[in-house]
Amino acid sequence: MKTIKISRRDFMEKALAGSALLMAYPWLNAMADKSSTDYSQKVKIGIIGVGSRGSLLLHYLNELSEMINIEVVAVCDNYEPHYQRAIKKTANKAKAFYDYRKLLDLNDIDAVVIATPLHQHAHITIDALNVGKHVFCEKSMARTLEDVKQMADTHYNTGKVLQIGHQRMFDPRYLTAIELINAGEIGLITQIRAYWHRNNDWRRPLPEGRPELERQINWRLYKEYSCGLMTELASHQIQVANWLKNATPVSVMGAGSINYWKDGREVYDNVALIYSYEDGTQFIYDSMTSNRHYGLEEQIMGDKGTLELEVNKRYFENPPPKPEPPPPAAIVQLMKDIEGGIFSDAIPLTNSSWIPELKVEGNGIAIAEREQGFDESSMQLEAFIASVRKGVPTKGVFEQGYWATVWTLLGQQAMDDHQIVTLPNELKLI
Ligand SMILES: NC(=O)c1ccc[n+]([C@@H]2O[C@H](COP(=O)([O-])OP(=O)(O)OC[C@H]3O[C@@H](n4cnc5c(N)ncnc54)[C@H](O)[C@@H]3O)[C@@H](O)[C@H]2O)c1
Repeated sequence: MKTIKISRRDFMEKALAGSALLMAYPWLNAMADKSSTDYSQKVKIGIIGVGSRGSLLLHYLNELSEMINIEVVAVCDNYEPHYQRAIKKTANKAKAFYDYRKLLDLNDIDAVVIATPLHQHAHITIDALNVGKHVFCEKSMARTLEDVKQMADTHYNTGKVLQIGHQRMFDPRYLTAIELINAGEIGLITQIRAYWHRNNDWRRPLPEGRPELERQINWRLYKEYSCGLMTELASHQIQVANWLKNATPVSVMGAGSINYWKDGREVYDNVALIYSYEDGTQFIYDSMTSNRHYGLEEQIMGDKGTLELEVNKRYFENPPPKPEPPPPAAIVQLMKDIEGGIFSDAIPLTNSSWIPELKVEGNGIAIAEREQGFDESSMQLEAFIASVRKGVPTKGVFEQGYWATVWTLLGQQAMDDHQIVTLPNELKLI
């Protein structure tokens, strides 16, 4: 199979041509809509939370500014060093605020990007939607299921765009993987395995002499603000599993522990879960922070082949046979002896009752190549702006984020309560 190389221009061309790929992934169609590619009106954006991720999003928005006529006109952060850094990153042009409500008061802002710690996502998103702003909110959606549902209700009631930051939805490798799956190229998927392994304490250093900033800076490690590995890492891979299956799980079970970093953190440093889908597919997930040998991966296993999405590899269950080397002389002699009846008195040979299940050999082939400079995080912002220009949500985009967070938080619940958890009625979307 030819490896597909995808650039931003290919993406746009595919979008404008309405290719089969785009028909299947409606969020890309937003970019094909005439109103989304009419760049005559400037889209004005505010960013709330300009820490590590927010800074990167600001950088991407700056990069896109001329090409798609957008401008970051306001920034907000309640931590002085990040507040100052953000102002500099806009070349001192943006208005700056410590309180996000002041930013939301600006009438000329069309959209806001939210990259605060998780527990702040819900109320800021809800306030923004309620004053008529379109919202791009980083994953995961929220810290609690109640907040997630309230965000969803506000999104549907206001009709404003709400996109959650799952950039893999815009990654050519993943989009091509979906095409391969839909075309039956890896056969029937019965298992998905995914993991995210690290070997570090996941702590951020505190500024000299400021121990009181621990919870503010290391918010990921405390239950009040985060579900640790689940909301910070697993949610991406749960989104991928749901997306590839075109379904959401029916149940989840799991176990979690703090078994290595006994440093005062409250979130698990070691989790293992099984999500089950209605068709019997099992999605086996684990994440840890004391071994990085296996790194990060999503393995999609069908009866005809396997996809490894992070390393961008496709493997075949029955690879074309390699040319056989000639048998060694001793084997040739043994075969001649058998044919000549030398062993005629011996016990007849039968099939072995146990054959070792050997790994299918082969190095695999690339699923798709991203052209140098292509970045799915930037592409997802471009798609968000396209929806903003259109003025209405692009069908199916928000729901990817919703189901990813719902099943992330239900997985956390399964581990905390030592129970198999199913979807509560109140979280169903009409
Ligand atoms: N999509 C991805 O790949 C990806 C990667 C990293 C982080 N994230 C997400 O981005 C979000 C932020 O993560 P981070 O690593 O940048 O965290 P961070 O701690 O580096 O940044 C958060 C920023 O928000 C600010 N903040 C906190 N409360 C605020 C408030 N009420 N108003 C304004 N600013 C406030 C903090 O001062 C800080 O600057 C998280 O939800 C995280 O999951 C996503």
